[in-house]
Amino acid sequence: MTGMRRFEGSRVIVTGAARGIGARIAERFVHEGARVVILDWNAEAGRAHAERIGATFIQVDLSDNDATKRAVRAAIEELSGVDVLINNAGMLRFASVLETDPDEWDAMFAVNTRAMLVTTQVAAAAMIAAGQGGAVVNLASMAAKTGGEGQVAYAASKAAVVALTRVAALELGEHGIRVNAMCPGYVLTEMGADTRTPEKVALWSSYSPLGRLGTTDDVAGLALFLASCDGEYFTGQAVNVTGGMVMH
Ligand SMILES: NC(=O)c1ccc[n+]([C@@H]2O[C@H](COP(=O)([O-])OP(=O)(O)OC[C@H]3O[C@@H](n4cnc5c(N)ncnc54)[C@H](O)[C@@H]3O)[C@@H](O)[C@H]2O)c1
Repeated sequence: MTGMRRFEGSRVIVTGAARGIGARIAERFVHEGARVVILDWNAEAGRAHAERIGATFIQVDLSDNDATKRAVRAAIEELSGVDVLINNAGMLRFASVLETDPDEWDAMFAVNTRAMLVTTQVAAAAMIAAGQGGAVVNLASMAAKTGGEGQVAYAASKAAVVALTRVAALELGEHGIRVNAMCPGYVLTEMGADTRTPEKVALWSSYSPLGRLGTTDDVAGLALFLASCDGEYFTGQAVNVTGGMVMH
């Protein structure tokens, strides 16, 4: 971790931060001086992580629109405002185009995409009312740009995240709210761990000129950059963090 304190006094909400990339993002915000609320449906892991890093935990199933609105409002109340929203929660299930169940498609879009609309609506309204701008960072994926076999619903939901990010950036810019997306490559978390083999790790590592897969810190570093004053002139971007696996 860096010794920087770019978020002293900042109020930050991170979704899906009970584990994985979100957990690391939340931890690094706290490390740089922010007050953080974690939203996740995994109460046990979420509470434990929040306690460990000095954040607040609120349980919510982000596929439930009304519950999500209530949870974001509760987070804003807890923090007495919001400066940064990190829309990180997501899910990945594999199925081919021919075999994808439309209900599974809807379930993946509900968490990966629709929940970001709902959280952004509530948080951006609070940012506009406060009149001090803010930053939103959305977790897309390199799948948004490259697709991926067996990932039709996931890739489509992440491409929609990129489109949502661009429209939100266009509409919210006049309020000083910046909205960006991150497109990670293959990051070593529990997501996808059940189908991971040493051969698969070696193959995917070979796609990066750096010869390795991503870490949660690789992604967290970019999230904090985009949310910080260092990223002040970034908005509407879908930034790759893939170790060069994707270069466009
Ligand atoms: N791991 C990768 O290789 C990779 C690559 C590209 C993009 N991403 C994206 O990064 C984000 C984080 O991924 P990760 O690897 O840390 O995954 P993860 O599965 O380890 O963590 C996801 C978190 O989201 C939470 N979550 C899922 N559904 C939820 C719901 N309905 N309500 C509330 N919380 C919910 C989970 O409980 C978990 O804490 C996701 O959006 C993912 O799509 C990951």
